[in-house]
Order: sequence, then C-alpha cells, then structure tokens
Amino acid sequence: MSKTAQLILDGKTYELPVTIGTEDEHAIDIRNLRDLTGHITLDVGYKNTGATTSAITFLDGETGILRYRGYPIEQLAEKSSFLEVAHLLIYGELPTKATLDDFSSKITRHTLIHEDMKQFYMAFPRKAHPMGIMAAMISSLSTFYPESLETNRDPEAVNLTIYRLMAKISTIAAWSYKKSVGHPIVYPLNKLNYVENFLNMMFAMPTEEYKIDPVVVQALETLLILHADHEQNCSASTVRMVGSSQANLFSSIAAGVIALWGPLHGGANQEVIEMLEMIQKDGGNIQKWVDKAKDKNDPFRLMGFGHRVYKNFDPRARIIKKACDDVLLKLGVNDEILDLAKALEEVALKDEYFIERKLYPNVDFYSGIIYKAIGIPKEMFTVMFAIGRLPGWIAQWKEMIANKEPIGRPRQIYTGPGERNYSNIANR
Ligand code: ACO
Repeated sequence: MSKTAQLILDGKTYELPVTIGTEDEHAIDIRNLRDLTGHITLDVGYKNTGATTSAITFLDGETGILRYRGYPIEQLAEKSSFLEVAHLLIYGELPTKATLDDFSSKITRHTLIHEDMKQFYMAFPRKAHPMGIMAAMISSLSTFYPESLETNRDPEAVNLTIYRLMAKISTIAAWSYKKSVGHPIVYPLNKLNYVENFLNMMFAMPTEEYKIDPVVVQALETLLILHADHEQNCSASTVRMVGSSQANLFSSIAAGVIALWGPLHGGANQEVIEMLEMIQKDGGNIQKWVDKAKDKNDPFRLMGFGHRVYKNFDPRARIIKKACDDVLLKLGVNDEILDLAKALEEVALKDEYFIERKLYPNVDFYSGIIYKAIGIPKEMFTVMFAIGRLPGWIAQWKEMIANKEPIGRPRQIYTGPGERNYSNIANR
C-alpha cells in the first residue's frame, strides 16, 4: 500500500503522497500543495527540498556513501578511468571495450577549438581568472555551433555537443593556463589519451620535450573521477535550472561553471591552499586559526571543512587523503603544507565546535595538495574540478530533458512594503 502523509491546516486534513526512492529515501510529494491548500513551502537554500527524482548518483550523508549509477565511488576510483565513468554517468552503463574505444575516439576527434576562438584568449587580461575564461569560452561554443541551439531533443545532435564539450573543455582549460603564464599554446595530440593530452597541453613547451609521468596521470584520473558527479549540488542544480528554460547545453554548462566558481562550492579548493599557506606564513599556530573559525564575529571559516550533505565523513576526502600520501611519496615531494593540513584536521576533529556541527574535511581539503604536487597552479584548481564535473552536469541536463521537467521557477513569500503611491522626486 502506498504511504501518505497528513497535513492539518486550518482544521482541514490533507493527504499527501509519499515518494520512496531505491535506497528507501522518503519524500512528501507537495506538487499539488498550492492548488490544494493555497500554501507554499518555505525552504531557503533548499535544505529539505528534493528538486527532482534522479537515477544518476546516490549519496547518503549520514553514512558517507557515494555511488554513481549504483557503483561505489571507492571501486570506481580504484579501478576505472575518467572516460569510463563519464560514459557511465552520461549514458547510464559502464561501457564495453568497443563502446569505450568509440566514445574516446569521438571525444579525441573534437579536441581542437576553432582557430577564431584563439583570438578571444588575446583579449582577456593576463591576470584573468581561468574560471572566468572557461565560462566565457564554453558559452562562446554555442556561437560556433548554432545548430546546437535547436537540438535539445535530437539524440544524435545532443551527442555531438557532448563530444565537443568533453573534448574541448580540457583544451580551453590548458590554454587559459598558457595565457596566464604568457607561454605559447600547445595543440591537442590525438595519439594521447584524455588525461595525458590535457597534461601535455598544460606543460609541454616548444623548448623541451614534456615527459608524461604515469603517477601524475593516475592521480589526475582519480581526482577527475571523484569530482564527476554529486547529485543536486549548487552547480548541477544550476545546470538543470538553466536548461529547464530550454537553453542549449553549452550555455547550461557555462552557467554550471560559474556556479562552481564560488568559494562555498568548487572555489573552496583554491581557498584551502591559500588558507594553509597563510597559516604557515603566520607561524603555523593551528589553534589560533581554529579559534578564529569558531568565532561568530570573525568571518574566517575553515575552508575545505563542512558539507551540506555529509554529516559523518566525505568518502571522497578519505580516498583523496590516501591518494595524497601515495602521490607525494611516489613523486618524492615533501610538502610541509600536507603536514599542516593533517595537523589542522586532527585539531579540528577533536574540537567540540566541529564535532557538534558535524564538520569534517570535504573533497576539497586535500585535492589542492595533489594538484600542487603535480605542478598545477592554485588558480587552476577549480578549473580541474570543472573538467571532472562536466560529465555529471551533462548527465543531469540530459536527465532533466528526458524527464520533460517543467521550467524551474521557485515561489517566494514577499516581505517588502505594502502598496504605496509614487511621490514626486521634489517631495521626497
Ligand atoms: N568553518 C567554521 N564553521 C563552519 C564551517 C567551516 N568551514 N562550515 C560550517 N560552519 C558552521 C556554521 O557557522 C554554522 O554554525 P552555527 O550553527 O553556529 O551558525 C554551522 O557550522 C552550519 O553551517 P552552514 O553554513 O549553515 O551549513 P551549510 O550546509 O549551509 O554549508 C558549507 C555547507 C557551505 C559547505 C559550509 O560548511 C562551508 O562554508 N564550508 C567551507 C567552504 C567549503 O569547504 N566548501 C566546499 C564544499 S564541498 C563542495 O562544494 C565540493
């Protein structure tokens, strides 16, 4: 028998249906609430609101579970490649060898970006943040492929946009780095795999050969997989919301990049390293900074700590912490920042303030230390997150279109002035 919830309002009882997910998640379905009762719900920040039903990612914040299409993140991070995971998220299943080869080669074929787009890089100021460049370039792709504007429901055309996005995002990202350091851009090399190609475009120079280190490739594969999707987070919800107006896929993804940029979301990975460097420069007094983070009159927060959903541990942070030790050991890097991060985590996890509020290191706490060890500058950290998150955004957008979801349009409770009459400026 299907479960219902009862709502008693002004003495009247309403029966509301309850939707139950695969993992026994329960939601009171209020789709008809306003029609039935004249009331809306108020949930600032959507802390209790399910915006959709989704078959892509399951996470349980209380027990620290994260699965893409049913597969535990721990298994995917250890055994699969980023493109395999991208296929899983976007098309719903792990690819066969033949399907993966086909998917990889289609992506490889689209890695070049239109020569005219090179001009855009000239126009950005040297100090432009690469996230700003990335969002602008992805949005610009829609102007180079105008046919994509009308093809949201044609699977073949959508697939072509998917290959283009997956392929061009790493070229766009690497070129924004080259721009920032004033080095010549490096064109994609089709004989390399996805991650190798990105590293080559980032670090190859006309003056010397760039040797791709398999340790670095593996580390990057893992990081991209860990970032690939995270259900209805701020940027994924943005992509779905923008896409729900029938905006094209390029533009919806550009909006996701912008949402990710904020320091409370993907921008936190850059902020973590900056925070750790600041604490180190300040003499390494960890307790002082933990106390500042607890002080309500001080705007300082421990970046890389806390999560809207994880209230026990972030499974991605566990994997990254271990990967961090492995990668630094294999590369022979001794980074005092890693020791500082571990010491900070230890102090914070024993502190009543953090225990009470269930604040734990999130995915961003250790990722920057790996990026730094493999030579990626901190301004590029959030860009790396965006490359990883792209398949998730695409999957979320595709699902929203397939579900024929209506345009996203929340309501509000108005708290401004009541009606008043316009007064002439001379009388104010
Ligand atoms: N340092 C100090 N205090 C914190 C922190 C922190 N990092 N995070 C939360 N708190 C405190 C808040 O001050 C609040 O305290 P109060 O109840 O006494 O007022 C309580 O913990 C709850 O915090 P909220 O901000 O209400 O929690 P919310 O779920 O809205 O925010 C968020 C989650 C944004 C991630 C928050 O923990 C934060 O700002 N963390 C730092 C930024 C960060 O690392 N972001 C990356 C998130 S992971 C990702 O997006 C990939």
